[in-house]
Amino acid sequence: MDRRVIRHGVTDSTSERAFAALAEGSASHGDVHLATAQTRGRGRLGREWSSPEGGDLYASLVLLPPPPGYDPVGLTMAVGLGVLRGLERAGGEELMLKWPNDVVDAAGAKLAGVLVESRGLQPDAPHYVAGFGVNITRTEFPAELTAERPVTSLRLLGITADTEGVLEEILGELEAALTQLIANPSALCSTFVRRAGLFNGPLEVQRGKELCRGRLLELDLEIGLTLETAEGAALTIPLEHVSALRQV
Ligand code: BTN
Repeated sequence: MDRRVIRHGVTDSTSERAFAALAEGSASHGDVHLATAQTRGRGRLGREWSSPEGGDLYASLVLLPPPPGYDPVGLTMAVGLGVLRGLERAGGEELMLKWPNDVVDAAGAKLAGVLVESRGLQPDAPHYVAGFGVNITRTEFPAELTAERPVTSLRLLGITADTEGVLEEILGELEAALTQLIANPSALCSTFVRRAGLFNGPLEVQRGKELCRGRLLELDLEIGLTLETAEGAALTIPLEHVSALRQV
């Protein structure tokens, strides 16, 4: 993957800059849009991603694979794994994934978030923007953020790292995870299951308004998530119908 890092300084959102470049036709596969701060950083489920200046990482990677493109859930998992492994290479220990792709520490505090988006269905020219934000140097967070869930940073975990170094590690691991997504998706799924701690205990899976419970039997990109229910039956849920998943 040829890498071009486009530095924006303070901008609205690196993912928005990536989509603007796609819209004007100047984007290439592997472009990375990087900011020192974002005024309209966005997270999953329409949330804001708090993005002050001061050394945290805000980046969006443009992906323009050949048709048919990536499996959407597989891509989300691959980007999460890439960020997780990159943060381990930067010194993070005992990190885990939390469905679908938050990176959390051993205590469950959020260290990084991933947002994979695409706009408009173009089967002959698929495009994706994989945005990721990593708390590197921050030691204080807005109260509304910490009220929702515990949050941490590399610095709070005792790791001294700089934005560019962490970005390099993440991009290397992201590339490897994307290669594995194409070459060996079942291996990627197995790694994901292990790194998200899904094999251990019973799971609660939100499918629309329905809450399903069971032990994970299999996670397959085409088949979905297969659970063994308390009654011993196998229940398969397509991955695109899984809105939340947690261990109980
Ligand atoms: C989440 O909700 O956990 C996902 C957060 C993704 C944040 C990153 S920061 C860089 C990129 N630009 C954005 O506006 N969002 C993503």
